[in-house]
Amino acid sequence: MRLRDRVAIVTGSGSGLGKAMVKRLAEEGASVVVADINQEAIDTVVRELKEAGRTAMGFKVDVTNRSQLKELMKATAGKFGRIDILVNNAGVTRYRPFLTMNDEDWDTVLGVDLKGVFYGVQAVAEYMINQRYGKIVNISSVAGTGVAPDWAGGSAAGTSNYGAAKAGVIQLTKTLARELGPHGINVNCIAPGFVLTPITYTTRNAQEVEKHIELRKRSAVLNRAGKPEDIANGVLFLVSDESSFISGQLLCVDGGRTDRM
Ligand SMILES: NC(=O)c1ccc[n+]([C@@H]2O[C@H](COP(=O)([O-])OP(=O)(O)OC[C@H]3O[C@@H](n4cnc5c(N)ncnc54)[C@H](O)[C@@H]3O)[C@@H](O)[C@H]2O)c1
Repeated sequence: MRLRDRVAIVTGSGSGLGKAMVKRLAEEGASVVVADINQEAIDTVVRELKEAGRTAMGFKVDVTNRSQLKELMKATAGKFGRIDILVNNAGVTRYRPFLTMNDEDWDTVLGVDLKGVFYGVQAVAEYMINQRYGKIVNISSVAGTGVAPDWAGGSAAGTSNYGAAKAGVIQLTKTLARELGPHGINVNCIAPGFVLTPITYTTRNAQEVEKHIELRKRSAVLNRAGKPEDIANGVLFLVSDESSFISGQLLCVDGGRTDRM
């Protein structure tokens, strides 16, 4: 049990990668908070965790709302007495060619994927600073490290908003690591490669998803799509004491993407 007595919050953990993260962290002994905008999804994940004998609570939160994030931290500390781990995972996509990108799609993606991280870290910081201990992991994307060509599954629909937000998360991670490091807080970032989750379907129809899976598989040296557990294991490493001398880093969990090498 690598996280015995630790308390972990994962935003966007009602689905996909976040759900796998809370399950993995709870397996290692952490008390987990399933924080998501979708109440039904929260209830399902909390029920599954409790049925497996884990310690979990749910909290409905919109990461674009600063005061709701403050309430999340207050409720977590109120129930469990501390907050050791925050994974800023909630994210959305709205792919659109740059020339027709509108304010709504730009602001929505930047608001959830980048500003949500800013709000989350500001809200949790006082608890971690008081403890002189904290582990923060921000979820970026390989889309924040470069632009995939067509042969590697690059989106013809355009990812200027998503790519800008996810690149912003990488740089924000570095500045946060610098400013929070003196308080005993590690801040790191994971860029997942392709993992089939509901988010894949938000910008593609079923046929496009099939094609996307094939292209993404071929662009990874390991020749497969990722599993949610692959990303959760990366998070586990970065929130465990095995990574206590690592901060400000980007870990690409992407099967070895040839279009990035
Ligand atoms: N799946 C992939 O291939 C992939 C690749 C790279 C990066 N990512 C990133 O991983 C993260 C998780 O993605 P996923 O694939 O699990 O997607 P998903 O759609 O399955 O899950 C995202 C979760 O975030 C929640 N959410 C959305 N807006 C929110 C808000 N404003 N406040 C709180 N919660 C909100 C949703 O309800 C959902 O439960 C995202 O940041 C995504 O950009 C995913």
